[in-house]
Order: sequence, then structure tokens, then C-alpha cells
Amino acid sequence: MKRFPTLTISNHPLIQHKLAYIRDKTTPKKVFKELMDEVSTLLAYEITKNLPVRAVQVETPLQTTTCHVIDVDKVVLVPLLRAGLGLVEGVLKLIPSCAVCHVGLYRDHETLEPQTYYFKPMSSPEERMFIMVDPMLATGGSAIASADLLKKNGAKNIKFMCLVAAPEGVEAFQHAHPDVEIYAAALDDGLNESAYILPGLGDAGDRLFGTQ
Ligand code: PRP
Ligand code: URA
Repeated sequence: MKRFPTLTISNHPLIQHKLAYIRDKTTPKKVFKELMDEVSTLLAYEITKNLPVRAVQVETPLQTTTCHVIDVDKVVLVPLLRAGLGLVEGVLKLIPSCAVCHVGLYRDHETLEPQTYYFKPMSSPEERMFIMVDPMLATGGSAIASADLLKKNGAKNIKFMCLVAAPEGVEAFQHAHPDVEIYAAALDDGLNESAYILPGLGDAGDRLFGTQ
């Protein structure tokens, strides 16, 4: 039996290649942001693989045929501020019309507890698929709080995309939300005493926005 049944790690060589440069501390801010953007497009391809499709009739220049389309207005991207913003544009490249529902959360550096400071609920949440995006799943506190918030507001279908996950965070998240699939680029070794992921990539928000 799989240790983490809700976790899918994408071992695609392009994702692993780009992640290597994202992890590298000498990678400059501009490149870090570009690579995060590219990896999020690749992970979006994976995470959307089971989206429902609807049959439509399309007239090609030669004849009418049955094609299949996604209901893009049913897809909602949920970046966890701030670092989750780094994964937004990459997903929007594939699903440009989807809604973007920001969740403002930060991890209190002393208690490590997530503090919510912004959330605007979506209408008809039970009809939509929510894709939470955050590069880091460390203790799991932020992702758990975000999924709690979405569910409290009626969400029934949630997935979670991250770049780097710690086993501690995956364990906590799958315990709290066993119905939410996690898609990650890597499962790392664990957390240090400050709850940073090892080997990780450092503080994602600080590297993305240059606030070290
Ligand atoms: C980081 C990261 C996650 C969270 C993960 O955000 O982007 O949201 O930590 O840690 P957890 O799994 O232990 O909750 P941070 O709180 O540093 O805020 P920021 O995105 O504004 O930098
Ligand atoms: N948040 C980050 O940005 N990095 C970590 O390693 C853990 C939490």
C-alpha cells in the first residue's frame, strides 16, 4: 500500500530539470520566477487530466464533428498568498478563462500557525473544481487551513498543486483532507527545526518577490 495515497509526484524530466534550477540558491529572482511559471504549466497539465468534458458539435472546413470541451468557468484557481502567486500565470496559460480566488494566509514564524487575512468566496462553489496552488507544503498548516476555508464555503471538489512537499505536511494534509489529491514536483526529506523543507528551495515567497 502506498504511504501517501493522495499524493502524485510528477517525475517528468522537464519538471525535474526545472526544479533543479529552482532549488539552486544562485538562481536569480527573474529566472526563479520564470521557472516556477513553467513548472506550474506542466503540473497543470497533470492535475487537469480528469476534468470532465462535454460533447459539442464543431464545423470544420469540411464537415461537422463531435468534439469535447471543458467547462472552463467551473475551474477555480486558488493561489495561497503570497508564494502561490508564482504558480498562477503558468496555469492561466492553459486555462485562461478560469476564475482566480485568492486566499491570504501567512505562517506565524513563532507559532507556525496559519493566519488568514483575505478570502472572497465564490458563488455556486458546489459546482466548481478548485485548484489550490502553493509552491511549499511544509507542516501542512497553510494548505489545511485553505482547504478548510473552501469547504466551509461549500467546495466539494478540491485539488492541490505544490512544487515541494515535506512528508510531515503530506501526512497532516491527507489526514485532514483525504478527499483532496496533491500533485507535487518532489517529495523532500523533511523539515528543519524552523519548519523549512530540506533540501527544499528556501523561502519561496522571499525568493519570488526579492524580500530576503
Ligand atoms: C509559505 C508557503 C506556504 C507555507 C507552507 O508561506 O508559501 O504557504 O509557507 O508552510 P506550512 O505548510 O508550514 O503552512 P509563508 O507563510 O512563508 O507566506 P508567504 O507566501 O507570504 O511568504
Ligand atoms: N515556506 C517556504 O517558503 N519554504 C519552506 O521551506 C517552508 C515553508
